[in-house]
Amino acid sequence: MCGIVGYIGPRPVVPILLDGLKKLEYRGYDSSGIALTEGNGIEVFKRQGKLDALREELNGREFCAAAGIGHTRWATHGRPSDINAHPHTDCQGRFAVVHNGIIENYLPLKEWLISMGHIFRSETDTEVLPHLMEEFYEGDLVRTVMRVIRKLEGSYAMVVLALDEPGRLVAVRQDSPLVVGLGEGENFLASDIPALLCHTRNTYILEDGEIADVTPEGVAVLDRDGRKVEKSVFHVKWEAAQAEKGGYDHFMLKEIYEQPRALKDTLSGRIDPDSSRVVLSEIRMTPEQVRNIKKIFITACGTAYHAGLVGKHIIEKLVRIPVEIDIASEFRYRDPLVDGDSLVIVVSQSGETADTLAALRESRRRGARVLAVTNVVDSSIAREADDILYTWAGPEIAVASTKAYTTQLMCMCLIGLYLADIRGTLPEAERKAIIREMRKLGDKVRAILENCNVIDRFVQDYAGSENAFFIGRGLDHTVAMEGALKLKEISYIHAEAYAAGELKHGTLALIVKGVPVIALATQQDLYEKMVSNIKEVKAREATVMALAMNGAKDVEKVADHVLHLPSTHPLLAPVLTVVPLQLLAYRMAVARNCDVDQPRNLAKSVTVE
Ligand code: AGP
Repeated sequence: MCGIVGYIGPRPVVPILLDGLKKLEYRGYDSSGIALTEGNGIEVFKRQGKLDALREELNGREFCAAAGIGHTRWATHGRPSDINAHPHTDCQGRFAVVHNGIIENYLPLKEWLISMGHIFRSETDTEVLPHLMEEFYEGDLVRTVMRVIRKLEGSYAMVVLALDEPGRLVAVRQDSPLVVGLGEGENFLASDIPALLCHTRNTYILEDGEIADVTPEGVAVLDRDGRKVEKSVFHVKWEAAQAEKGGYDHFMLKEIYEQPRALKDTLSGRIDPDSSRVVLSEIRMTPEQVRNIKKIFITACGTAYHAGLVGKHIIEKLVRIPVEIDIASEFRYRDPLVDGDSLVIVVSQSGETADTLAALRESRRRGARVLAVTNVVDSSIAREADDILYTWAGPEIAVASTKAYTTQLMCMCLIGLYLADIRGTLPEAERKAIIREMRKLGDKVRAILENCNVIDRFVQDYAGSENAFFIGRGLDHTVAMEGALKLKEISYIHAEAYAAGELKHGTLALIVKGVPVIALATQQDLYEKMVSNIKEVKAREATVMALAMNGAKDVEKVADHVLHLPSTHPLLAPVLTVVPLQLLAYRMAVARNCDVDQPRNLAKSVTVE
């Protein structure tokens, strides 16, 4: 997804912009660009491709700009190209704009601007913005931005640079994140905190409709009617190193190995040491509200949706309330039977996913209470939900979600235990057994990471495959879906997940000699059935790698490779089972020379529909 940076101050502008854009690479992009106020004009440099292409363009040039803006673009309106890259300018080159989001009414605006004599160069929705600036400008950039945003429908985080007012940057957000970094004699703008961390930890997180008037000396924040907004400084506590690779070859690998710590962080402070009850002080629902819930909905996208599938199993089992689960892009349009008696749980690592945010808004519009499970403090979803449960996974940079998923699973379990406690649906001994096991999960994940040689052997043999199947029953089926998504996403191997009992209803036709099948057999009550399903695919000469709990009998006799996992409570098994699948996807991707952290066509944070 697109990234924005801005700088105003005495230091050389270009390196600061390029470094900031580099820190935002994880968001995924197809082109990049910068604009600077230089002498008598605004200079714009933009190139399709990775940042190195832009660096090459800038190489050897001298600049004396005091302000600049930069952007990494992920194409929506108009293909990736130099011309469609941001920043965009008006006819006379007096305004330069970088923008994240979508201007939904750009077509009528563009037609009107063309009728007024404006000349467009790109295919983007964004280009209407500098032309609107040009049309409305009367000597005050802030007032012009206020006038422009009144014309806009859609989402935007934008920063504007004006030739006539070189000493300021003006920024505004609506449904797309934007942060001001506060320095001394200099100030910064960025769509995401990692771009600011090496300069400042003091920030203003802009809210929808807020406009930041940024000069080297200070930052004034105004609402859309020009009234001053008193902002409190948000001090970022992350370590800069935390947002970098820390010695691993890829962010994804680093994040896989961070899971033992992340899982512990998710639990920290949430289990009362005396009573060993779950305490979720962030959730402000009263016990009466909890007791009145008639139905629970879970909605999310991608990996977060897969965490929701596990959540459905856990909550139904522990709380005995019916749980419906939907992909957020379906939920928002299917007229769901959500009402004031419903609790809607939205799950989103980034907290910015457009479909999940829309599902949240739709649920609230229908009177439901919304509980968000998210990783990003102060994200849009966190701000709009009634209650929030942060996953505390730390920044997740790789496009492929790993530690966010396992910490989301932990949150699902915390929610289940919390609701069950208030509604009195779980015997104390069972609750204590689950909590005891939750506390051990971090160490068990570490043990799995230290003993995954089976995966290496499998990768050596099957890195050249173009197809793979993941099978499982019950909770194992939901984890199989996540394993298949991971493999597809980063290694580009076509992978499908099937409920093992469904094989004979069609998929078995695809199982032929040598096809790799990853069989998950961790659920004790379904274990015998799974062994039969493994036999079914073995009879068609597939090669099977099975994942089973320590002590599982007979699996060695039927599967070609077996990876044993430390045993745990069946509801918690997905946290362990997914780890070898993450590693499998990672190692396959490396063996196939794929761009692990930024797979083709994908973005980390999907803030458009
Ligand atoms: C995960 O590996 C994916 N990249 C993707 O499915 C992701 O989980 C999805 O886009 C949802 O993102 P969110 O959790 O930030 O809402």
